[in-house]
Amino acid sequence: MLCGGSLSTVAALHLDAGELMNILVTGGAGFIGSNLLRHVVRARPGDRFVNLDRLTYAGNLANLAEIEDAPNYRFVQGDICDGQLLAALFEDEAIGGVIHLAAESHVDRSILGPGEFVRTNVQETLALLEAARAAWARRGTAGRFHHVSTDEVYGSLGDTGLFTEDTPYSPNSPYSASKAASDHLVRAWHHTYGMDTVITNCSNNYGPWQFPEKLIPVMICKARDGEPLPVYGDGGNVRDWLHVQDHCEAIDLAFREGRAGRTYNVGGDNEWRNIDIVHAICDAVDERLGAQPQGPRRRLVTFVGDRPGHDRRYAIDASRMRGELGWTPRYTFERGLRETVGWYLDAGEWLAACMDGSYREYFERNYANKMG
Ligand code: NAD
Ligand code: TYD
Repeated sequence: MLCGGSLSTVAALHLDAGELMNILVTGGAGFIGSNLLRHVVRARPGDRFVNLDRLTYAGNLANLAEIEDAPNYRFVQGDICDGQLLAALFEDEAIGGVIHLAAESHVDRSILGPGEFVRTNVQETLALLEAARAAWARRGTAGRFHHVSTDEVYGSLGDTGLFTEDTPYSPNSPYSASKAASDHLVRAWHHTYGMDTVITNCSNNYGPWQFPEKLIPVMICKARDGEPLPVYGDGGNVRDWLHVQDHCEAIDLAFREGRAGRTYNVGGDNEWRNIDIVHAICDAVDERLGAQPQGPRRRLVTFVGDRPGHDRRYAIDASRMRGELGWTPRYTFERGLRETVGWYLDAGEWLAACMDGSYREYFERNYANKMG
């Protein structure tokens, strides 16, 4: 890619075997970023990965203990809007590609405090784009910018249909609105400045190392402890669940092989109603720990007040990702959920460290509203 060059000069990255790269991963201490780094640092020993993460409540270096001493990995604690730090990193590390995951990522938190979502997801994506553009222009080299986004930008579906890459954006929550805005910035940096960008829009992820505030880890932890399981509304909302490792393979593939300026939808073709997932978790926890004396854990399901603006259904058409890039998810949901339940039941120490005072305070605020 040539910054400011004509669009016809912008080609897909297509890294050949043996072509090595220094890659800046933002938000690499979070759920998806840490799963991605544990995968690529080992799978691509010739590439160098610099992880820039501010370590908000969702960032956790314990997620990366397995790779912290790897020679092709470096962690830098810092903010993606710190222009001086970014300029130094792009220069010193000769960064040739960015995989941008840093974000505020939880819808419920975005409802309680939208400002932080606009700052982190919109303004700081702008700062990162500008830092990358300036650094690559200074060096006169091409650089790829991969933006990791969500299917929630497309809004909510009725009972039928799938989100394609051509579905008009219609975000409904402060989180999805801020991600939509950041997608638009990335798209504009391709069209206006000729930046070599790729955007992936993925459905709900699950798997190990997810901060215990999203549906699946919340329900596993509460089922383990025999606490009420707070299902929003009627429990009929549908999400398309994808194992995080399948998402990470898709990111790696799209980063290397995706066409410049292109968007790829990523999803598991795996739609579940929330209530059915919660029941499946109850059954898996019963199987591992044995039913409680009071009876099976399904009895803990408690319907609570709905999330404001709650999207009814998400479902992804990932045929571009499969057809153009040959991506196929490996996990069946049955295996993925069983392994994930097992992982959380064995992760007592990690979970206890996550659940500090601020975690409890968030929980009280979020669920107090819904319990009435
Ligand atoms: P996460 O909340 O687990 O992690 C976010 C990470 O970003 C944390 O480590 C945090 O410390 C870091 N961060 C936040 N602000 C930062 C800043 N200003 N500078 C540097 N680092 C900062 O999120 P996740 O679930 O791993 O999601 C990663 C990305 O994938 C997000 O962009 C999210 O929108 C997207 N996504 C998530 C899902 C999902 O189901 N979790 C699905 C599709 C897309
Ligand atoms: P979540 O994991 O927060 O992901 P998203 O909102 O990005 O899809 O929620 C998944 C679904 O589960 C969503 O429909 C809201 C619902 N939900 C509950 O019913 N109870 C809960 O305690 C949580 C956290 C989510």
